[in-house]
Amino acid sequence: MSGEAHPAALGIDVGGSGIKGAPVDLRTGALTADRLRIETPQPATPSAVADVVGEIARHFADELGDGPIGVTVPGVVTRGIVRSAANIDPTWIGTDADTLLSERVGRDVHVVNDADAAGVAEARFGAARDQRGLVLVTTLGTGIGTALLLDGRLVPNSELGHLEIDGHDAESRAAASARELEDLSWEEWAERLQRYYGVVEDLLWPSLIVVGGGVSRKADKFLPLLHLRAPIIPAGLRNQAGIVGAALLAYEERGSRP
Ligand code: BGC
Repeated sequence: MSGEAHPAALGIDVGGSGIKGAPVDLRTGALTADRLRIETPQPATPSAVADVVGEIARHFADELGDGPIGVTVPGVVTRGIVRSAANIDPTWIGTDADTLLSERVGRDVHVVNDADAAGVAEARFGAARDQRGLVLVTTLGTGIGTALLLDGRLVPNSELGHLEIDGHDAESRAAASARELEDLSWEEWAERLQRYYGVVEDLLWPSLIVVGGGVSRKADKFLPLLHLRAPIIPAGLRNQAGIVGAALLAYEERGSRP
């Protein structure tokens, strides 16, 4: 061991109810300080969220040094511009979020899709670590987020939660929020997941499916009810995956590898 400090970046996960951030050790994927959680402002406009991101960045200024900041949003992001907003304030669409947040915070901020961040974290440090071939990481929450990884490399913005299945936007039937809203039993919800993952599997033939999102803590209630070709397993990093993946992607955006 050289005793040299490991590279660090700040990861911030923007969710519907809370915005959570922590500095991440990029060689181990561990959080190097307790997470800070701030209620998501309502409405969660780009400007209101930028203020919270700024507050979290100031809180961790000492731990972070000159490391970059990665921020997740639940929408498509191409070159820092948010392109869709199924479950966030519609004013995000067309917002150059990298520029807005970098200017507001006064440091490099890189914005990525929430499921992509979770997928990258799972591939590097979690349930999909060292997996070759095509891995599908899904997050079951308010919506369904998806990340595709080929030999550990992300294919960004896959958006398979919005496949149209049986005449419905898939996430409106099979997200964790549908189970709660419709008060479905685990068995009833599992039938919907079976249909969802079955269709996705027939289209993509992944070698592994990883299931994240808060409900993955209860994976034993529904994963054993699913019958798919690929193994389907719970996420390893649980609710830290977004923070860890956002930090990693921000660091790599600078052209560096941890
Ligand atoms: C959005 C995705 C997001 C997912 C999970 C979907 O409705 O379109 O971009 O990853 O929800 O938050």
